[in-house]
Amino acid sequence: MLYRRELLGEASPLTLRYTSSMEYDKLIACEVLEVMGAYIEELRELKVVPEDAANRILGELENLIAEPSKLFHIKAEDVHEAIEVHLKEKLGSDAGYIGLGRSRNDHVAAALRLKVSRLLLKLLKSIVGFRRTLLSRASASINVLIPLYTHSQPAQISTLAHYFLYIDEMLSDYSSALVKALDITVRSPLGSGPAAGVMAPLDRGRLASKLFGGMLAVNTLYASGGREFSLITLALVSSLLVSLSRVAEDFILFSLPQVGYFKLPAGHLATSSIMPHKVNPVTMEIVRAKAGGVLGKFVSVASIVKGIPSGYNLDLQEANRPVIEALMEAIDTLEVLRDAIENVEVNAGAVEGDIKRYPLLASDIAELIALKTGKPFREAHKELAKLVKEAKNTEELYNRVREAYNINLNPKDAVKRPVNGSPSPENVKSHMEKSLKNIEEFEAELSKYSFLEKSRC
Ligand code: ARG
Repeated sequence: MLYRRELLGEASPLTLRYTSSMEYDKLIACEVLEVMGAYIEELRELKVVPEDAANRILGELENLIAEPSKLFHIKAEDVHEAIEVHLKEKLGSDAGYIGLGRSRNDHVAAALRLKVSRLLLKLLKSIVGFRRTLLSRASASINVLIPLYTHSQPAQISTLAHYFLYIDEMLSDYSSALVKALDITVRSPLGSGPAAGVMAPLDRGRLASKLFGGMLAVNTLYASGGREFSLITLALVSSLLVSLSRVAEDFILFSLPQVGYFKLPAGHLATSSIMPHKVNPVTMEIVRAKAGGVLGKFVSVASIVKGIPSGYNLDLQEANRPVIEALMEAIDTLEVLRDAIENVEVNAGAVEGDIKRYPLLASDIAELIALKTGKPFREAHKELAKLVKEAKNTEELYNRVREAYNINLNPKDAVKRPVNGSPSPENVKSHMEKSLKNIEEFEAELSKYSFLEKSRC
């Protein structure tokens, strides 16, 4: 314990354990070391630290990047203190040059921003991969009919491609929002010191260009004590998982034995330890649960930040882990769900059975009656509802419609609804083309952040 000894003496084991962030600093140790390296380089450039001492420190930081586990045997308040203890042990008084123009407050903010930025970039790339999988499955299922549900009741006939493209559009929206979160996050707080800046004449722009592509969180109070980047990221990531949990739920429902539209690949299933007949859709269940867990992490960070006074408070230390874990879980979730989508099999027999069983064309027919006869839609709806009630099955229903109105609609033609965004093959093809273009443009936009991947972490 380096920092408190002079003023307060050693901390009790309980206090140290309770207030130390060492355990979860493992998640950002490498970024903390990189930040420290950039800062020492700046001090060297400014010639406020002897070149030789700066080089020795940089050399040792390199060793630590290769093996950060060395730090975690040290009893310390946090990884920042552990690094100083380690450097002092290795380099003696030269280690003491660390500290000028720096606070743990701006350094932890920098490391966290860097970690969150890298994970956001990874997440955005996973979304791109996910969208490509969706588009490739969609292009092979333009004519694969499936029922769509509202209120969990059979509603209208659609196609599998149309279903996949709904997920694609949703992910396109999340991409636009998340890239904004990345833009907000990847800004350097270095040089902001504890709250109001430092006396050392650091060139904040030059520092920012080392790790943050030159972008800056400007105001020093905001840069050192703000966690808006975490809040915004978590709000979006938890919303993303909430949306994806609905897809997981679709997969669970569509693979119910009673429904049977989808057959999940074996890798997504588990057996029961007692019921020999069971195959459980375990990955989809965990996707559903992760959405809840990640939402909890958002609430956790928002509750930690809520009401603390402006500027750094140690409360913020507890907000580091949830944002990192949420992003890691989101990345895994996307890969699991992407794989399910890539490999899910459709059971045509089960789908056809339901298309015959449920009057999925009823709304289309009611509309066609109104359009054809010029009757108010309400009347057409009423007439058709009566027929639905009277008919023993859909075959009889469609026969009676043919006789009464000379309307002969089949499921394949019904999906050709003329409105934009409908499952009509024309629409689906044009959506797919636009989407592919959108993905390519988005990838070009992401390449702006490729500096984040040039890391030894
Ligand atoms: N361990 C702290 C964190 O993760 C680092 C900053 C501590 N600052 C301080 N003045 N005690 O947030």
